[in-house]
Amino acid sequence: MADLDLRRMLDLGRWAPSGDNTQPWRFRITGARTVEVLGSDTRSWCLYDYRGIPSRMAHGALLETLRIAATEQQARMGWRLREGGDETAPVYEIGFEPADALAPDPLLPFVESRCVQRRPMRTPALTSAEMAALTEAAGPDYHVDFRTGARERLEVAKLLWHSARVRLICPEAYETHRRIIEWGVRFSKDRIPERAVGVDSLTARLMRWVLADWKRVDFLNTYLAGTVMPRIQLDLIPGLACAGHFLIRPRQPARSDREQVQAGMAMQRVWLTAARLGLGFQPEMTPVIFRWYVQDGQALSARAPVNAAAAAVAERFNDVWSVSAEAPAVFMGRVGRGAPPTSRSLRLDLDDLIVVDGHDTVEAA
Ligand SMILES: Cc1cc2nc3c(=O)[nH]c(=O)nc-3n(C[C@H](O)[C@H](O)[C@H](O)COP(=O)(O)O)c2cc1C
Repeated sequence: MADLDLRRMLDLGRWAPSGDNTQPWRFRITGARTVEVLGSDTRSWCLYDYRGIPSRMAHGALLETLRIAATEQQARMGWRLREGGDETAPVYEIGFEPADALAPDPLLPFVESRCVQRRPMRTPALTSAEMAALTEAAGPDYHVDFRTGARERLEVAKLLWHSARVRLICPEAYETHRRIIEWGVRFSKDRIPERAVGVDSLTARLMRWVLADWKRVDFLNTYLAGTVMPRIQLDLIPGLACAGHFLIRPRQPARSDREQVQAGMAMQRVWLTAARLGLGFQPEMTPVIFRWYVQDGQALSARAPVNAAAAAVAERFNDVWSVSAEAPAVFMGRVGRGAPPTSRSLRLDLDDLIVVDGHDTVEAA
């Protein structure tokens, strides 16, 4: 068997999704068939990276993508999380083994084209075959619930509407919002490009001006109902304009690092399966993340009204999805029909992601 082309696998792997396109990983090639993924997380500055869970899910998406990429070269992948390290910088040891009879994974062709669709999509409801395929993709350890009818979508859209208010009135989230958008562009290698955000150009110009200074955000929110316009465009309309929303729930609470990585693997399989079905896809993680804070009794903000509003979002979430307050949930999103987006996040170049011995500082993404 010919040597494995590890660079090719890593080149595909880097297309895995990560929260706000932070790409919390670097790669070290340690042998002819072994690689280390040097993970990081963004909890020090990103309110949404609660206990680093979204970053760990992104690591899972990366590992799943590498597993799929390996099938292109008829190789099987194994991985383990190195024990005893810093929990904010997990190291994943990965090995590949030739497996001659292995067929390319059917999700392989979608690794690079899979992306987020934040704009309104067409609404014909998901078919039962589509729901079955998405559920199967998550695997036996997860329930996948759907909300597809017009009335159900309205209830989810209202949940997103309330959740978005929390996001926009929370001073602690401001730093994240300020950092993650690359303004005035269609493609961005290390952030979300303005055109992929999902607002019209006038609103984008206003957002850019407002986000330059928290005082502007606060003033607009207090006196000019500043959260209304972005929430209509980013949450209410997309919440209605889709074929359905879904929630991925682990059968067992996903408490350990490993379980959170596995949740990310399930997320990536569902996302790639949506791409294979020709469906647009958008994660809707803020209500899930705010509910994690509430479940753990952790304050989201120094401002009491923000925490009260987050608690109300968690309650609404439980109603919409008919789950108990304690029920674990790892991922929520929407899918729909229509043309793919014309703007998307790109990735850092492979050479910038590969750590060469002697230069092995992993910068926090
Ligand atoms: C764990 C996780 C959470 C995410 N949460 C959201 C979200 O709440 N809303 C959203 O629009 N995109 C969300 N995203 C999508 C990322 O912003 C997106 O994957 C990243 O910017 C790269 O873009 P691409 O997936 O189009 O390549 C999330 C992605 C991951 C992996």
